[in-house]
Amino acid sequence: MNVIEVNRVWKAYGKLIANEDITMFVKEGEIIALLGPNGAGKTTLVKQIYGELTPTRGEIRVLGKRPNDRHIKKLLGVIPQECEPYGDLTVWDNIYYMGRLKGVPKDEIKNRGEILLEKLDLKDKRNTLARDLSGGLKRRTLIAMALINNPKLLILDEPTTGLDPEARREVWEILLNMKREGQSMLLTTHYLEEAERLADRIYFLSRKIIVEGTPTQIKEKFADWYEVTDYASGKVYKVKGEEELKKLIMSINGKFEVRMPSLEEIYLQVMKNAE
Ligand SMILES: Nc1ncnc2c1ncn2[C@@H]1O[C@H](COP(=O)(O)OP(=O)(O)OP(=O)(O)O)[C@@H](O)[C@H]1O
Ligand SMILES: [Mg+2]
Repeated sequence: MNVIEVNRVWKAYGKLIANEDITMFVKEGEIIALLGPNGAGKTTLVKQIYGELTPTRGEIRVLGKRPNDRHIKKLLGVIPQECEPYGDLTVWDNIYYMGRLKGVPKDEIKNRGEILLEKLDLKDKRNTLARDLSGGLKRRTLIAMALINNPKLLILDEPTTGLDPEARREVWEILLNMKREGQSMLLTTHYLEEAERLADRIYFLSRKIIVEGTPTQIKEKFADWYEVTDYASGKVYKVKGEEELKKLIMSINGKFEVRMPSLEEIYLQVMKNAE
C-alpha cells in the first residue's frame, strides 16, 4: 500500500512555479528523502502532503484520502521546517498538549508519553522548560510530540539541520529504530549522507523531479568515472570507463586507491546538468 501518492502536482505562488508536475509515492514502511537546493520546492510539496497548502493542479492522496480530510491530520506526525517546542512549557507539557491537540485520550498520552521519553532518552529532561534545551534535545522533544498520536505516517522537514554531527547521528538512530518498527516516513534534507543512511529511495528535486531511485540505483546509473590516487607519486587521476581504469592501474607500480563518485558528487553533477 502507498501511504502517500502525489500525482502530477503543480503548485504556483502567483507567477512563481514552486512545484512542476510532481509525481511521487511513499510505500508503507518506507523512508523516502527529498533532496534539493534552497528554494527547490521541498517544503511547498510536503506542506501540500500534510494539508497546509492545496495544489494548484494535480492530486494528492495520504493514507488513501485527501490531505485536508479531518481524519487524516490525526493520523499524521509532522515536524515542519524550523519548528520549535513551546519555550515556556516543559518537555512533558509539550508532549502532553500536543497529544490533547491531536485528540489522544489522556490515559493514552500518559502511557505513550512515558514510553517516548524513554525511547528518546528525555527522561531526565521531562521537567525542563523547552527554552532551556539544546538544539538536539529540542529536536528530540519535537519527535516525541510528533509521535504522541502513534502516527501512521511521519513527515519531517529537515529533521537535522543545525545539529552538530553527534546530535545528528542520535536523530538518525532514533529514525532508524522507528523504521525497524515499520514506521513510514517522508523527510527532506540537504545532507546526502543523511539520505544515504536513512532512505530506501531518494527524489532529487529542483522545482520538478530530476532523479528518483534507491541510493545504489542512482550511483549505478550516474557513476561514470573513477578517481585513482597513485600513492608513490601522489598523483590523482580521473578516468571514465573500466577499460581506461584497467590501463591506468596496469601502469602504476606500487600502492594505489580507486574511488567512485560519492552520492554527493553525483547529486552536484546531476543538479548542475538539470539547470
Ligand atoms: N508563501 C509563499 N509565497 C510566495 N512564494 C513562496 C512561498 N513559499 C515559498 N515560496 C517560494 O517557492 C519556492 C520554493 O520554496 P520552498 O520553501 O518550497 O523551497 P525548499 O526546497 O523547502 O527550500 P529550503 O531548502 O530553503 O527550505 C521558493 O522560490 C520560495 O521563495
Ligand atoms: Mg524548506
